[in-house]
Amino acid sequence: MVVNELLGDMPAEVFLREYWHKKPLLIRGALRDVGVPVDFDCLCRLAQDEDVESRLIENRQGNWHLENGPFRASRFKRLPDSDWTLLVQSVNHHLPHIDEILWRFNFIPYARLDDLMISYAPPGGTVGPHFDSYDVFLLQVGGRKRWQISAQKDDAFIEGAPIRVLKDFKVEEEYILEHGDMLYLPPRYAHYGVALEPGMTYSVGFRAPSAQELATEFLVYMQDRVCIDGRYADPGLQWQADPARIPQGMVDDIAQTLAQISWDKALVADFLGHYLSDPKANVFYDAPEDELDEEAFFNEVQREGVVLSRKSQILYTDTLLYCNGALLDVDADTVATWQRFANQRMLEPREVLDDMLEALYQGYLDGYWLPATGRLQK
Ligand code: SIN
Ligand code: CO
Repeated sequence: MVVNELLGDMPAEVFLREYWHKKPLLIRGALRDVGVPVDFDCLCRLAQDEDVESRLIENRQGNWHLENGPFRASRFKRLPDSDWTLLVQSVNHHLPHIDEILWRFNFIPYARLDDLMISYAPPGGTVGPHFDSYDVFLLQVGGRKRWQISAQKDDAFIEGAPIRVLKDFKVEEEYILEHGDMLYLPPRYAHYGVALEPGMTYSVGFRAPSAQELATEFLVYMQDRVCIDGRYADPGLQWQADPARIPQGMVDDIAQTLAQISWDKALVADFLGHYLSDPKANVFYDAPEDELDEEAFFNEVQREGVVLSRKSQILYTDTLLYCNGALLDVDADTVATWQRFANQRMLEPREVLDDMLEALYQGYLDGYWLPATGRLQK
């Protein structure tokens, strides 16, 4: 049985079998040592960055207000003492110790992990009762927050509100979360968190693309790969009285041509490798500042190991590896080590193979990983 300290004494297999996608779980004291707390000033700085997704949600006299970032610094000076929440998405991309917390959730495949969002709220701060369409772990950091939850099926939202707030939330259970406590909620489980004291919620969310999004993305992927020979021809063309009508024979022939478009599971796996490792539109890779030449890079990696950038994702199938939306071209005899790199998100010096160095140097120049000397700045 695999024990993950975030789940308390519960083995990951038991969590997945009994709770994942099925029912909520409250874990008291799941993670108390969260490193340097991300204070409000730090969140405000991130929320001023145009590449960071952020929102400010306020409830004034019963009315919901939503503002999307980036914000001016002066916006935060005009906030009242209560009843608002600042939410900043993908903080894991910006702060090393928050990134470290996200990857502790490795009892779920990386293909499903999305990001770690942080919200800060003074007393009364809330985003209202709602549900999310994906699973979420809500970790309380500092302060106390009251969470009310409900398995209700009534999913009507208040019309005209700028955020999705349930019209008729019926509390079934209530918990007060203190620093280090964590609440897991399956998809579409109604929840309503209200800060009792100034504090933060670290939300670990999961990717759950809609069937429509998967289909659309798959067709985009197929567009570059479909390859059908031939050209339309109609040697048996018949005269028709109404020339504007699309000939039925043409429809039949082209339906046959298009029926040649096919795919198998290997192609679906290849699509998923590209699609799931592809960064979000606001993610950019930073080339190294003091770029090492090839020899200095090799020496550094052989001495210190190598670590993935916080924004990088390597996923793999049995034989192929994908990094940040592209196939990773590596020597066959190094595949197992690259797979280890993908799982651990780092390699110790003794694990690095000589045959990997060329590909490693290229990825280093692209900002995908770096010698582990820079582990804290990664
Ligand atoms: C919050 O951080 O207060 C809201 C997070 C959520 O409900 O998913
Ligand atoms: Co939610």
